[in-house]
Amino acid sequence: MDSIELPRIVSPELQSDREELPEQGLEKSLRPSFMGEYIGQKKVKENLSLFMEAARVRGDALDHVLLAGPPGLGKTTLAHIIAHEMNAQIHIVTGPNVEKKGDLAAILSNLQPGDVLFIDEVHRLQKTIEEVLYGAMEDFKLDLIIGQGPAARTLRMDLPKFTLVGATTRTGLLSSPLRDRFGVQLRLDFYPVEELEKIVHRSADVLAIQIDGCGANEIARRSRGTPRIANRLLKRVRDFAQVRTKNGQGVGTSITRQIAQAALALFEVDILGLDPMDRKFLFTIIEKFDGGPVGIETLSSAIGEERDTLEDVYEPYLLQEGLIQRTPRGRMATRIAYHHLGILGNEEKSTDSDCI
Ligand SMILES: Nc1ncnc2c1ncn2[C@@H]1O[C@H](COP(=O)(O)OP(=O)(O)O)[C@@H](O)[C@H]1O
Ligand SMILES: [Mg+2]
Repeated sequence: MDSIELPRIVSPELQSDREELPEQGLEKSLRPSFMGEYIGQKKVKENLSLFMEAARVRGDALDHVLLAGPPGLGKTTLAHIIAHEMNAQIHIVTGPNVEKKGDLAAILSNLQPGDVLFIDEVHRLQKTIEEVLYGAMEDFKLDLIIGQGPAARTLRMDLPKFTLVGATTRTGLLSSPLRDRFGVQLRLDFYPVEELEKIVHRSADVLAIQIDGCGANEIARRSRGTPRIANRLLKRVRDFAQVRTKNGQGVGTSITRQIAQAALALFEVDILGLDPMDRKFLFTIIEKFDGGPVGIETLSSAIGEERDTLEDVYEPYLLQEGLIQRTPRGRMATRIAYHHLGILGNEEKSTDSDCI
């Protein structure tokens, strides 16, 4: 029987537009709108704040900014914060959705001085469209072709000084002419547990969810270093607490470590935040390929998942946690993976000592 594919609870990717909207009856969204509310990523914040301040003092637009990092770490949020702090309008497009040169020309020619143009998945722009950006980014000029055939001529149009903010999962995916035109290039890293705890507490406040320190710690530890996952787990654990406690009358029940653990066990999210798909990834390397090395293409067909998804969504966290290694001959499972899966016996992972 074919199983129905449910969205992964630990997917770092956005699963619906609703996910970033305020919940019914709530004014505020989970997305911080000021730099001061943006938790962690100290270096990135320091750099951006400095460049924004300098641009503001000069009365100039901020230089073009490239934000790189795995999904769910806060790139879109930062783009909004930049616009907000620069007192600028933000225009948002997604790389693969810009289909014609004319689409981009229309967006560019509507910009006001200082505006932020946010291009998400900027590495997925078509080459010909990317080329339109070069002149726009460098000289703030746009070459338009008017008419067709022999009568066609180019018209050079001046653009206001604007800030392009590009987001990409990996800088290596960008062509170098495009990459070189970003004056500010920043990399977001996975968040440590302490910062995710703060994010969980902040989101719990926004959503009016009661949670204690140990409950927040449990969710943070299983969120794969990713705020989007932390927020999603928080909401699902809240649902669990509401339904499974006090005979279903548990609205407002405070989330404790015990509740979080029971909920996450039900959702099959383990202590490292791995779900059945991650475990399948590791088991495939270990059982079908004797622990590796195995090439990514081979792995992709063995698991039945696209190579890009494996590289963008699964691997970054598995690499960061030292569960797999990338070698020139392919991917390998590490000792940590064998232990984690219980193949070499479980290594005790200590929990926060202050928590029961
Ligand atoms: N530093 C942060 N502090 C608080 N919340 C954050 C932070 N980074 C991300 N988030 C939250 O995580 C979610 C995903 O962030 P988003 O900016 O959409 O990620 P990306 O664009 O990198 O995929 C959003 O709800 C956002 O508010
Ligand atoms: Mg985004």
